[in-house]
Amino acid sequence: MEAVISTLQVKPLTCTIGAEVGEVHLGEASRSPELMAEIRALLLRYKVLFFRDQDISRAEHVAFAGDFGKLEDHPMLGSDPEHPGLVRIYKSPDQPNDRYENCWHTDATWREKPPFGCVLRCVECPPVGGDTMWANMVEAYARLPEHIKTQIAPLRARHSIEFSFGAVMPIEKRLALKAQFPDAEHPVVRTHPETGEKILFVNSFTTHFTNFHTPANVRCGHDLNPGAGQLLNYLAAQASIPEYQVRWRWQKNDVAMWDNRCTQHYAVMDYPPCHRKMERAGITGDKPF
Ligand code: SIN
Repeated sequence: MEAVISTLQVKPLTCTIGAEVGEVHLGEASRSPELMAEIRALLLRYKVLFFRDQDISRAEHVAFAGDFGKLEDHPMLGSDPEHPGLVRIYKSPDQPNDRYENCWHTDATWREKPPFGCVLRCVECPPVGGDTMWANMVEAYARLPEHIKTQIAPLRARHSIEFSFGAVMPIEKRLALKAQFPDAEHPVVRTHPETGEKILFVNSFTTHFTNFHTPANVRCGHDLNPGAGQLLNYLAAQASIPEYQVRWRWQKNDVAMWDNRCTQHYAVMDYPPCHRKMERAGITGDKPF
C-alpha cells in the first residue's frame, strides 16, 4: 500500500487514519510552496502524518508549522523563550503528577477557536513506552447509529479549561484562569471547514450539553442528568474504539503533524520513571461550525 505523490513517499498506516511520509526534510519543505501544498493535502486525507529522522532546528520546526498559520502558546505549558509558539512538553521523574496528556482530547477546545493542528517533535524518548495514539473523529461520527446522529445533530456543548488544568489549582488561581479563558461552546457535530466532513466534537474538555433540556429529551427532572450525562460519556468514549485509531512508537527526531479539527489524541503515560521530551508547535484555528 505505498503511493508516491511527487517526490514524497506516502505509506498509509491504517485504513482510517495516519500515514508515514518519507523522502522529505521539513526544514526544506517550508521553503517549497508546492511541497507544502502536498503536505496539506495529505494531512486532510490522512489526518495525522508522521515523518522520521527530522533532525531539524527549532527555528525550522516553527517555520514549518508557521506555514499553516499563526502559532500560539499554551497557558499551562512553557514555550521556548527564543521560539514563541514552541511549547515544551518535558516529562521527568521528579514531576510524577504532571499528567495531562493521557486522556483522549482534542487540543484546547476550551478556546473559542481551537487549534487547526499541531506539529510535535520527539526530542528525547524513553527506552520503551511513551507512544501517542490518535483517533479519527470523522470515522467515529460516521459509524454512530442513525438515531444517535439524529439526537445529537442540534446539540451544543461547553468546553472548559477550569475543569481540566484548573482542577488542581487553589480556587483563586483557578477562577483567574477561567476569567482569562472563559468556557467555550461548540457544536457537538462540527463540519470540517476544508473537507466538509462531519466530525464528532466532544472530548475530555467537554463538561455538558448546553441545550439538552428540551421537551423531546426531558419529560421531567429525572431525565436531565442521567440522559445528558450518559449520552456525553457515550460520545466521549468513541475515541477509544481501536478501529478509529493509529498508534505511533516514537524515535528521537520523529515528527507527527495532526489535524486537530477532526482528531483526538492520547499520550500513553507508561514510561515513568524515564524522561520524555517533546516540542509542539500549535497552529491557530477557526471557530467550529
Ligand atoms: C499533546 O497532548 O499534545 C502531546 C502529545 C504527546 O506528548 O505525545
